[in-house]
Formats: sequence, structure tokens, C-alpha cells
Amino acid sequence: MDLPSAAAYRKAMTGNNEANDAAALIAAAREAAANAWAPYSNFSVGAALLMSDGSLITGANVENSSYGLSLCAETVAVAKASADGRMREVVAVGIVGGMTGKQGVEPILPCGRCRQVLNEAAQAGKRDLAVYCSGLTGGPITEYTLSELLPHAFGPANLGIV
Ligand code: THU
Repeated sequence: MDLPSAAAYRKAMTGNNEANDAAALIAAAREAAANAWAPYSNFSVGAALLMSDGSLITGANVENSSYGLSLCAETVAVAKASADGRMREVVAVGIVGGMTGKQGVEPILPCGRCRQVLNEAAQAGKRDLAVYCSGLTGGPITEYTLSELLPHAFGPANLGIV
């Protein structure tokens, strides 16, 4: 039997709705950002993926002394999901960022490379993703779809993979 969609899971198990998804994802992303390895930029980013069974997978940025080798929080989270065999299960993502140890209330949006990485999960799961963005410590949550942030995307569908 197919797994229930995240929405069905929420309704059945928790009565939660999309607003609660956004709040829960942003809260989880803020916790994840506390583990950012960002000694070079001092810019901490956290990401949380909502999976189709309602569970969360988080990531934080991992910088490198060879600066260009740094990994973004969203990419780390997608890599964790994929390494657990769950590339097709991503439904939504929450992202926060800001200067480490400072108040950050401006929403952070995913960089171009992360949009492409998220698109791999979106097309693999045959769904658009909800993308919730906020500041490191607070501020508004802005909401997008991945197709809005990465229109006319190239992805696995173009290679006949999905
Ligand atoms: N960063 C992310 O983790 N995600 C983004 O979408 C934007 C940028 C990280 C990379 C680097 O460690 C720090 O933020 C400053 O650019």
C-alpha cells in the first residue's frame, strides 16, 4: 500500500495543517543551524525537510578551509535523505540563516545550486516542493514553491530517469 501523503498523515495523526508545517520546519531548521560548521563566513544556515511520512530530516552548512568546497545546509539535508534511500519522499523544506550568534530576522532563500539540488528530490518524488524561509532567530516566514524559485528547471525528467 502507498504511504499516505504528508497532508493525509498530518490530518490523521495530528490534525496539523500547512501553517503548522511551516512553523515546525522553521523550528527544526533553527535547531539544525546551531550545528552549522561556519567558522569562515560566520553565517549559519539550517534546513529541515518534511518527508511524506511526516518525519523530518535536517541539515546545516559545512564550510571548508578550501572555501569553495563548502556545503550548504539544504544540500546536506538532501544528501542525508538520499543516503537513507528517501530521495523520493521530500515534500517541503524549511530554511533559516543569519550571522552566527546574532539576531537574524531576514528570511534566507536557497542559493541557486541548492534550488537545483532540491529539484532532484522534487522530480524524483514527482511533486513540487513547498519552500518556507525565515531568519536565523525569528522574523516572518515567507512561502514559495520550488517551481517558483527555479522555473523551467532541468532535471532527472529530462534524462528519462523519472
Ligand atoms: N549557505 C547555505 O547553507 N545555504 C544557502 O542556500 C545559501 C548559503 C551557506 C554557505 C556558506 O557556508 C554560508 O551560507 C555563507 O554563504
